[in-house]
Amino acid sequence: MAATPSPKSIQPAEGTLGILTVGLGAVATTFIAGVELSRRGMSKPFGSLTQMATIRLGKRTDERSPLIKEFVSLTELKDIVFGAWDPVPDNAYEAALHCGVLEKHEHIFPIKTFLEGIRPMPAAFEQTYVKRLVGKNVMTARTKRQMAEQLRTDIRNFKAQHGCSRLVMVWCASTEIFIVPGPTHATMAAFDAAMDANDPSIAPSMLYAYAAIMEGIPFANGAPNLSCDIPCLLQLAKEKGVPISGKDFKTGQTMLKTVLGPMFKARMLGVAGWYSTNILGNRDGEVLDDPESFKTKEESKLGVLETIFQPKQFPELYGNMYHKVRINYYPPRGDNKEGWDNIDIFGWCGYPMQIKVDFLCRDSILAAPLVLDLALFSDLAQRAGLSGIQEWLSFYYKSPQTAEGLYPEHDLFIQLTKLKNTLRWMKGEDQITHLGIEYYVES
Ligand SMILES: NC(=O)c1ccc[n+]([C@@H]2O[C@H](COP(=O)([O-])OP(=O)(O)OC[C@H]3O[C@@H](n4cnc5c(N)ncnc54)[C@H](O)[C@@H]3O)[C@@H](O)[C@H]2O)c1
Repeated sequence: MAATPSPKSIQPAEGTLGILTVGLGAVATTFIAGVELSRRGMSKPFGSLTQMATIRLGKRTDERSPLIKEFVSLTELKDIVFGAWDPVPDNAYEAALHCGVLEKHEHIFPIKTFLEGIRPMPAAFEQTYVKRLVGKNVMTARTKRQMAEQLRTDIRNFKAQHGCSRLVMVWCASTEIFIVPGPTHATMAAFDAAMDANDPSIAPSMLYAYAAIMEGIPFANGAPNLSCDIPCLLQLAKEKGVPISGKDFKTGQTMLKTVLGPMFKARMLGVAGWYSTNILGNRDGEVLDDPESFKTKEESKLGVLETIFQPKQFPELYGNMYHKVRINYYPPRGDNKEGWDNIDIFGWCGYPMQIKVDFLCRDSILAAPLVLDLALFSDLAQRAGLSGIQEWLSFYYKSPQTAEGLYPEHDLFIQLTKLKNTLRWMKGEDQITHLGIEYYVES
């Protein structure tokens, strides 16, 4: 197959980039505050590839490894402005204090005025889709069509008020109830009719994705709800030339799974069982305590191992694996989640072994740099003329969106290779295949 030609040109990242977050909760406020603290030299953007990582170019002997942000044109932190929607009326300062992720004396009080300036727009919200939340700051629009139109107006107003050259939207809002793609999601005609009819199969997350795509704004989905992962919106994104990606930020336990799982598979070690449980006490944990929202998350978390282990192809190793995932709401821990994994593996002659992982992580500290990277890379994708699903961003997701009929790639390091090779491809650089035979062949 002939190689796909690289983009002819990438528009420079000039002017202001507006990052619109759906939701102004723990992840969004930690992200916004972290960017501001970095801009002021008060912290470092640890965890962010766009800010800290390098990319190797050419042969190992060439010693060319620029920073990614210098290799491709990315928006600088100083050129970012923020906007958000949330059914909770708190501004970013109040929300950050409430979420309790960042230390208030060191990381919130010094940027109080800046955070107070970010006030959430009234949300397209219905409690049916997030049972544990009561929304006070919601749109007055009555139908789903009106909500979608209001979101489009909000986007245009924000762009004009802040003098933005470009915008991106990242879903950082609560996980909605489980919805299966159906006939109303199949075509834009059906979706349009369903919006007009206020059909329950159209969730608010789909309205945000629709509004973003219609306004030509890249959309990244940090939660497991369908949102832009329905056929009509995939088609619309292609038609409108808009990059989209999802679903569900890959931060803690699943990130570990997508490192450990490929290790067992690489060594042909069997897995008899994998039991994962979590305790967390933030609002996300409270929302996920509702069985309908948990079901959406569970699907996202369970799918990973099935794809990595390919039990049909390796029935003796993985055919009987018992996989269980639990999330328990436990308020005393706040945003500091504890994730336990017990993994029962077996090796040579069937001898069993166990691995125990106890990850005392901080959910939003892990997620915030992902929001930044997804926003900056989605903007890059648009400036490079890419549209539709951006599979190269699967590095950031638990359930990567892929083209129909394509299984997702979950292995974290294959995802990283895919991401970096896409950047090389964009810039017309050679792909790194890791063959390396050229170093051993006499020329
Ligand atoms: N933190 C992580 O490590 C991580 C990892 C993967 C996915 N996620 C997902 O990211 C999302 C955000 O997590 P969080 O910890 O910030 O949760 P959070 O509860 O602190 O914040 C979510 C915010 O979204 C708002 N919201 C709900 N419905 C909305 C709507 N229709 N429009 C606008 N705003 C809406 C809520 O009022 C809340 O303020 C969740 O869906 C979570 O499952 C988080």
